[in-house]
Amino acid sequence: MAIGRFPSSLLPIPLLSLFFLLLLPLSSLSSCSSSCGSLPVRYPFGTGYGCGSPLFHPSVTCTGEGDEESRLVLTTHTGIYPITSISYSTSTLTISPPAMSNCSTMFPSTPNFGLDWSGPFQLGPSLFVLLDCPAPTSSLTYKGKSPICDATETHLCASLYSCPGVLSLDIPIFAPADTCCVYSPASLGPKGELDLQGLRCAAYTSVMSYGDVATDPLRWRYGVVLKFGQTGFQQYGKAEVCAACERSGGVCGYAPPKNYFVCVCGSGVNTSVDCASQENAATEYYLTSSAKTQLPSQGNLFGCSIFVLALFVVAIKAM
Ligand SMILES: *[C@@H]1O[C@H](CO)[C@@H](O)[C@H](O)[C@H]1NC(C)=O
Ligand SMILES: *[C@@H]1O[C@H](CO)[C@@H](O)[C@H](O)[C@H]1NC(C)=O
Repeated sequence: MAIGRFPSSLLPIPLLSLFFLLLLPLSSLSSCSSSCGSLPVRYPFGTGYGCGSPLFHPSVTCTGEGDEESRLVLTTHTGIYPITSISYSTSTLTISPPAMSNCSTMFPSTPNFGLDWSGPFQLGPSLFVLLDCPAPTSSLTYKGKSPICDATETHLCASLYSCPGVLSLDIPIFAPADTCCVYSPASLGPKGELDLQGLRCAAYTSVMSYGDVATDPLRWRYGVVLKFGQTGFQQYGKAEVCAACERSGGVCGYAPPKNYFVCVCGSGVNTSVDCASQENAATEYYLTSSAKTQLPSQGNLFGCSIFVLALFVVAIKAM
């Protein structure tokens, strides 16, 4: 084969890559979604890179976006935790660690649960209870400091130890509560973790509320409540703009690398204002040259790509 001559059998490869390049804009259309699974997703959270506040990426993401199994998850150095609810008014969210015990199912030898120090989350108001610890838990301490268990709450332990799930731990049902610890106020130790291994407790649960029947732990609600800061808003100074963007049906996001605020509207149009005032933001248009033109639909773009590919094939044939 002569040097410098392009083997004709390889010609389709650059052509194909050109084709895929043309397809690229399609995949970035409507890149931010306002929901993930059944959860509404609003600022400061986002469903992916460029969505919501950069502070919450990549700790909060939507996995399997678009399909029915998709769910919003929090990722920390100890694991991946499904987010089960978000309260935007109180700036709290609830996660359900897969190895967290509750009254019906208890998990022995649970891995530690932890948050990242650098992350924008703190422990919220749910109540941690450590189960199957070395007795007596009144002397349980972190590194020899003051006791960590709240002795005034031992009735919660008695309730939990009447749970059917307790059978899967190595303790008898209705066992004395001195291997159970209501860890309040809870703090994540120096590692940023609920250090079950260090404390030698087998399992933990986190109680959110006691439901209508406070004495029936089967009807309590379980989950870890976390607080999230509003720092993202302040950092941007974009609270009103973001609210207006969301009211107009857009999703708040940011444009890397400088992370300017963007309002991501349907059909891939990004503006610096909101989706209703797009006309005033011609410079932010996806197609800057034709500010008033609607972006071609995906079908149209696909058609264009096919057409261009066909042109190339014809051109190559003629060579
Ligand atoms: C619009 O913004 C989103 C989020 O930052 C980004 O993923 C997408 O590529 C942007 N679209 C355009 C056409 O610039
Ligand atoms: C208890 O935990 C199991 C296993 O994680 C879960 O399937 C179930 O929904 C939980 N029940 C409650 C009431 O939270």
